Amino acid sequence: MDHRAQEVISLCRKLAEFTEESGHITRTFLSPPMRDVHHELGGRMEQLGMSVSVDAAGNLRGFYPARTPGAPRVIIGSHLDTVPRAGAFDGILGVVMGIVMVDALTTLHMSFGIEVVGFSEEEGVRFGVPFIGSRALVGTVDEGLLALRDSQGASVAEAICSFGLDPARLPEAKLAQNTLGYLEFHIEQGPVLESLDCPLGVVEAIVGQSRLNACFTGKAGHAGTTSMKLRHDALLGAAKWIVLVETVAKSIPGLVATVGRLEIEPNAGNVIAGKARASLDVRHALDEVRHQALERMLNGAKQIAADCGLTFEWEQHLDQPAVAMDQTMVNRLGQAVKATGYPVHHMASGAGHDAMILAQKIPAAMLFLRSPGGVSHHPDENVLVEDVQAALNAGMHFLKQWEMHLG
Ligand code: GLV
Ligand code: MN
Ligand code: MN
Repeated sequence: MDHRAQEVISLCRKLAEFTEESGHITRTFLSPPMRDVHHELGGRMEQLGMSVSVDAAGNLRGFYPARTPGAPRVIIGSHLDTVPRAGAFDGILGVVMGIVMVDALTTLHMSFGIEVVGFSEEEGVRFGVPFIGSRALVGTVDEGLLALRDSQGASVAEAICSFGLDPARLPEAKLAQNTLGYLEFHIEQGPVLESLDCPLGVVEAIVGQSRLNACFTGKAGHAGTTSMKLRHDALLGAAKWIVLVETVAKSIPGLVATVGRLEIEPNAGNVIAGKARASLDVRHALDEVRHQALERMLNGAKQIAADCGLTFEWEQHLDQPAVAMDQTMVNRLGQAVKATGYPVHHMASGAGHDAMILAQKIPAAMLFLRSPGGVSHHPDENVLVEDVQAALNAGMHFLKQWEMHLG
């Protein structure tokens, strides 16, 4: 076993110590521990002869030059932020893999440069909108996005300034002109590869997702003196809606829907809730099916609000279409997996990834590593050293084949 696979795992575990919450792994967009991650990974990149910068969206970018100046480049990357109380591998594994692959190539400058990108934000935790980092590379961080506010009232633009960066320089974060494509290594975050006894999976498509914030408003009141008939209980409306969301989701094959966050006002045991805010996340491989499901969920919410004497409002933050990966890259990844001796399994990703944003501008592809127990977005998330080795082998083969095809 190459020491590099073990090094990937050890480095991910070390970076997991950079957290906002001691005893847990929580690292949101431009939070103080993100600076520590930049310092640690940026230092390693510099040692490999890469030029390192942090762009105006807070993405860590390291460039390893080609044999000849002015040659095109390939990006390898993933995200550095985490969900609250995360595991040690979602996102950051793909960044560390990129750096370790550059390390393996340092005796062998290629005919293309390699840019390793650690995206600042993919999860959508701090501002409710995912992919802020990768959007900067494709040039879709607009005024509306910069004006969104976090739970502390800070806007995206203010968060960028507080981190010592300048939102006016966002245009400079865009992809370099001569970028050939984007490759992302990521844990599968589900049970499929393990059930098939496959270390690796070639991603063919990433499902689309809708995300929104919903709000039921009623009237706060005394829990002891307000009869059941006279209540306008916002939490009751939200509870009925959560059940409806599940019923709709279960009636549509392949659809998943989640209410993962609930905020109640005033949130006291002896007060009828006056307001209930809920998040909604809906995903399906077919955009039309997702849109129809969302409409049913919103119509259901309006009906529940009418029945319970409430008002219902919502604000949609994301309508991200499903995205196919680049067919040429998918084929070559499959060939690389096969050539290195592993079974080839093609699959769709139910999780969102930076690759779906990069695919708007350049060919993009992903290689999944089996997730033991299918566990992710949980501290028990893990990856096997032999699977990291398999991904490194397949990744190196893939890059060499890519170089050969460039001629
Ligand atoms: C990212 O992890 C997502 O929510 O798909
Ligand atoms: Mn995630
Ligand atoms: Mn991820």
